[in-house]
Amino acid sequence: MGKNIILDKASFRKKIERLSSLPTLPNLLEKFSKMVEDPNTTMADFGKELSKDQVITSKLLKLVNSAFYGFPGRISTVTHALVLLGNDVLKGLIITSNIFENLPHEAYPLWRHSMGVSLASRAIANELSLEDIEEYAVAGLLHDIGKVVLHIEANEEYREVINHAHTAEQIMWQAEREILGFDHANIGRWLCEEWTLPAKLAIPIAYHHKPGIPSEHKIRVAVIALADIVVRGLGAGAEDDLPLGPPDPILEEQIPLTLTQIRKLLEEIGPEIESLKSLVPEDMK
Ligand SMILES: [Fe+2]
Ligand SMILES: [Fe+2]
Repeated sequence: MGKNIILDKASFRKKIERLSSLPTLPNLLEKFSKMVEDPNTTMADFGKELSKDQVITSKLLKLVNSAFYGFPGRISTVTHALVLLGNDVLKGLIITSNIFENLPHEAYPLWRHSMGVSLASRAIANELSLEDIEEYAVAGLLHDIGKVVLHIEANEEYREVINHAHTAEQIMWQAEREILGFDHANIGRWLCEEWTLPAKLAIPIAYHHKPGIPSEHKIRVAVIALADIVVRGLGAGAEDDLPLGPPDPILEEQIPLTLTQIRKLLEEIGPEIESLKSLVPEDMK
């Protein structure tokens, strides 16, 4: 006997649509998207407009300047952040700074995990000499955004899913599929649609557990999937998620790193992941 489906897919999707109309986030995002699409908007106009929102500006600048985000103490204006990071990264960060804010206490490991995967994604992209490594960092930060939404919007049901995963020793996305009928990667994809995030972010978010499926942005998916595995291996999984098992062979194909390079990478990010374990979201405020 299969478990009952406790959340209805269509109504949950509606809930997500409503989530995207929460104050601050959508207004700002909408304005942001419109300005980005308008060829007459200059970077300076843009930074000026965004800076009108003091709360988001200060949160954004704190995040961008944090040691974990990679530009410690270097960025003082939104315009500068935009020039350095690009629209897509900034959009991802606006979402992050809003969404992670409402995280219940029991989901703090998920926050640490997301920060860790962000770090690892950037390090892997860097090792592979890929362009726009900050896009990888932001995809890593958002890869489990579907879980964040489950914690916030369906806390009780999600607790049931986590309990079920523990008892049945199931991987979280499989337990989600069994009990909810969809998984956090599906939710991530819906959110990306709602927020009109570009495919280069949406696809890694949607396929980080099935890296063999997408035909475009394969390398991006592979980097995020590998970062997820590495970070769990370093003991920073979310909700005591089980280890993911042997990596998909597609990762080896997509990510041509030698053993020496992987060792170097682990040495590089190991201490950062370790120090993350004692952090709470408040430390980043
Ligand atoms: Fe995931
Ligand atoms: Fe993850």
